[in-house]
Order: sequence, then structure tokens, then C-alpha cells
Amino acid sequence: MARITAGVTTSHVPAIGAALDQGKADTDYWRPVFAGYEWSKKWIAEERPDVIVLVYNDHASAFSLELLPTFAIGCAESFAVADEGFGPRPVPEVQGHPDLACHLAKSLILDEFDMTVINKMDVDHGLTVPLSLLYGQPDAWPVKVIPIAVNVVEYPQPTGNRCFELGKALRRAVKSFDQDLNVQVWGTGGMSHQLQGPRAGLINPAFDRDFLDRLVADPDSLKKMPHIEYMRESGSEGVELIMWLIMRGAMGKKVKELYRFYHVPASNTAVGHLVVKPAK
Ligand code: DHB
Ligand code: FE
Repeated sequence: MARITAGVTTSHVPAIGAALDQGKADTDYWRPVFAGYEWSKKWIAEERPDVIVLVYNDHASAFSLELLPTFAIGCAESFAVADEGFGPRPVPEVQGHPDLACHLAKSLILDEFDMTVINKMDVDHGLTVPLSLLYGQPDAWPVKVIPIAVNVVEYPQPTGNRCFELGKALRRAVKSFDQDLNVQVWGTGGMSHQLQGPRAGLINPAFDRDFLDRLVADPDSLKKMPHIEYMRESGSEGVELIMWLIMRGAMGKKVKELYRFYHVPASNTAVGHLVVKPAK
């Protein structure tokens, strides 16, 4: 049977991708950011997951106000790298896992989560930057990826509680797939940041550190946090953090924290990163 072996969360700041792509990773500004992922790069090279269910948000690359699913799952063979205005990032195409993805879609929908099924989609920095942080710059990604896209950009976003429950349903869905696969679940986005308006540049390390602590040890206390509290405390784009609750819901009751990194700032964003595994 398929197994969920670990969970990863990480910010997905587009400037991190640009720094790597333009050979600026070894500069004074970026060195400490990439250093924070060295442990994780070694760890994942040993873990060698077969599939990552990668929870992220599209930033008006594949979707727009014309069509904006709340929860969507990518069932395609492959996903092209989106052009976000400067040409597609020079990273490999993302390979999907249609068999597992279709099983997850079926299981989630019959478990009363009305997923939108995507059979063609370009993926933007929300998905490719996390892959770059953990895998560096390979010729081909050494893992299959099933994108789960969440609307966090336009009101009304799903609640944190609904995200957590989706994670729990995802766990049931993965466990009922009859191939022996090592599956990780990733949640991306966050941490505190606001990109526009009078509070642009807002970063709140106290909120972020508390969120990391509670995500690991007391996720129940985060499930009911209203969007307005994310916005007030962590900025308008800090609400991306609800996607981390999907990862946490997929881990089961208890997790063991394997690694944590927190750094301020990268671009406009507080960078946070966690690696956890389900605990018995
Ligand atoms: C930035 C961060 C994001 O999460 C994003 O989607 C876009 C920009 C930033 O810090 O610049
Ligand atoms: Fe974002």
C-alpha cells in the first residue's frame, strides 16, 4: 500500500527561484537562505520519496478571476512550467502520477471533498520554488508530483479547519492506494508577508514562530483561526499558511519534528521551513 512517510512545509518566494536561476545563490543576501535548506536536501536524497502531493497556490498563472477553484488536483502526466512574465523558469517539466492522482481525486470526492480535476495546467513559483529548495538544480526532478491547488488569493478562501480536514481525507486516500509508494505531503506559502497596500513589507516573527510551534504540537488550536487573524497578524499574503494545515492534517495526530528553519527576510517574506514525520 502507499504510505505517507513525511511532511514538509516551506515558503515559496519567487525571488528564491530567480536567485538560483540567475546564479546568485552564493551572495551575502541569499547564502543564509539556501544554507537553511542544506539539511533538507541531504535528508530528501536519502528518503527518495516516489511521489510528493504538493499543496500550493496558483498566483494567477493557471487560474484567474474567470475560473478559480477552491480545491483542485492535478491528474495530468506532466505539468509545464508557467511563464509568470519573464519566461518560464529554466527548471525541468514536472512529472505527475496520474494513477495515484486519479485515485486521490476519486477517494476525496467520494469522501465529500468536491475537488476540481485538472488534466492540463502550467505550474508557477508556488510549486517550482519548493522543489528547487529541496532538490536544487537537477536535469529532471527525481520525484513525481501531484499538485493540489488551493485558492488563497480571492475571498472566500477555504477555512483552516476545512484545510485540516482535507489533509485528513488525503491521508485516508493515500493509504487506500494499492501500490507500494513512498509519499510525502508538502504545504507551501507563507510565512508572514504582505505585498501591497499601506502595510506592504509586514513581517511578524513572533506570530510565525508561534505558528511553527503550534503546527507541530497543537494543530487543533490553529484549526479555528479565522482568516482575519492571519491577515491582521501575518499580512494579507500570510493567509497562504492555511495550506500548511493540509500537510499537518495528513500526518495524523502526532508528528516528530525532524528539522526547522526560520529566516527574515527573503524578498518581502519571512521564510519558514519544517520537516516532520508521522509519529506512532
Ligand atoms: C513574494 C512572496 C510570495 O509568496 C509570492 O507568492 C510572491 C512574492 C515576495 O516575498 O516577494
Ligand atoms: Fe505566494
